[in-house]
This record gives sequence, structure tokens and C-alpha cells, in this order.
Amino acid sequence: MPNPLTAQSLHWRKSLLNRIERRYPIMERTIALTSRQINITIVEDADKLLEHLSTEDADGTLHLPYWTYLWPASIGLARYLDQMSRLTGHQILEIGCGFGLAGVVGCQQGGRVFFTDYKSDALMFAQYNVLQNGCADRASFVQMDWNTPCLKRRFSRVLASDVIYEEKNWQPILALIERYLTVDGEAIFSEPNRANALGFLELIGRYGFTYETHTDVVCLDGGSATIAVYCVRRASR
Ligand SMILES: C[S@@+](CC[C@H](N)C(=O)[O-])C[C@H]1O[C@@H](n2cnc3c(N)ncnc32)[C@H](O)[C@@H]1O
Repeated sequence: MPNPLTAQSLHWRKSLLNRIERRYPIMERTIALTSRQINITIVEDADKLLEHLSTEDADGTLHLPYWTYLWPASIGLARYLDQMSRLTGHQILEIGCGFGLAGVVGCQQGGRVFFTDYKSDALMFAQYNVLQNGCADRASFVQMDWNTPCLKRRFSRVLASDVIYEEKNWQPILALIERYLTVDGEAIFSEPNRANALGFLELIGRYGFTYETHTDVVCLDGGSATIAVYCVRRASR
């Protein structure tokens, strides 16, 4: 006889999948890391939904639904976390989680992960992916905008995959790291080696942080991308 928790989580997983399928065409990807495989459910052909899901502010600023894509940087961060020592005992915040791939590896490495994104549908997918990978007992989901942080606790790790693509977000993201990272904590960013990341790295110093860079090459959909992983710590600890 299945234990009640398993039955409950199976039921929850099924109803979440129904909700997702009512709104989006989906597909499953298997991400092979060195020590594990992650099955992740994502939007199928996100390009087709681009027009429908894009929104425009009164001032004409266009908001694209970036969460509907699985970005190579998230695979780079997942690979980095997979190779790290265990994260048992760590409280982890993932910002701009999208489908939640990096956070799932954080959970599987033993950490307790708070998945956050400002789009509720991204969190719905992240929640499904957590259930699918058997780590719901170590995951929480919070809708949070970088400009209006609402959590009231600190984290020893922050995961941030492909979130520094727009300069307007750099200050809010660094203010958030400043606010949420424990004194000896580490924020791990990944991004596809964009030229504008240099500006962000300069700003890191002005916020009193220091960083180390690692690079990796990620293959996805027939292409390959160099992914930079920045491990950011407070300069004076
Ligand atoms: C390029 S996607 C990266 C998604 C995921 N981390 C990955 O690498 O596949 C950027 C993510 O940040 C989220 N995001 C963008 N602006 C945000 C904001 N102001 N506050 C919170 N999340 C935001 C988007 O919804 C999206 O999930």
C-alpha cells in the first residue's frame, strides 16, 4: 500500500500537470549531468507563444516571457552544482527560477530551496519539476519581484541563472543579494558570457562583493554556448 504522503504528492503532481496542460503545450527534456539525470517539463516551442505572452507597459516597455525558455545558463549552473560538495543544511534562494532546473539540483544536493520568480506560471512549472524529481520536501515557492523583495530570512546560497541580461536589473539584484546573503554566503550566477556582463561584474565590487569565475561549454538543441559561472562573496567577512 502506498504511504499517504506518496499518494498525496502523486495526486498533487497530476492536478498540477492538468493545470499546466490546459494552458501550455509541453515537452519533457532529460538533462544529463555527471552524477544524475534531471527530467524537466518545459513549454514546447516557446517561440510560438511569444506574441501571445508578451506584454507592454503604459510607457511602451516590452516584457518578453523569458521564463518560457530553458536557457543554456541554467544547464551550466546545474552542472556546476552537480559537481559541488553536498549542500546539506544550506538554505538556498533561487531568483528568476524559470522552470527551476538549478534549484532542483540544489534540492537533490541536500539544500532547502526557495524557488522565486515574478511570473506565477514559471513557479507552476518549477513546482511540477520539483515533484517530478522527487524533492518536494525540500522546496518552497514564492512569487517575488527583484524590485520588491518580500522574504524575511537569509540564505547561505543564492542561485541566479541568466538574470543579468538587462542593466536595469543589476542594482535591484545586487541589493537583493546584499539583503539576503548570509555573511559567509555565496551567490552563484551563470550567464552565457554576454559582453554586458562586464558592467555587472564592475558593479559587484561597488557593492562590496568579490567573485571568482568558472567557465563551461553547454550543448543544447544542436548548438553550444560558453557559460560563465560567477561565485560571488562578500569581500570583507
Ligand atoms: C532569462 S530567464 C532565466 C530563467 C531560468 N533561470 C533559466 O536560466 O532557464 C529570466 C527569468 O527571470 C525572471 N524575471 C525577470 N525579471 C524579473 C523580476 N523583476 N523579478 C523576478 N523575476 C524576474 C523571468 O520570469 C525568467 O524566469
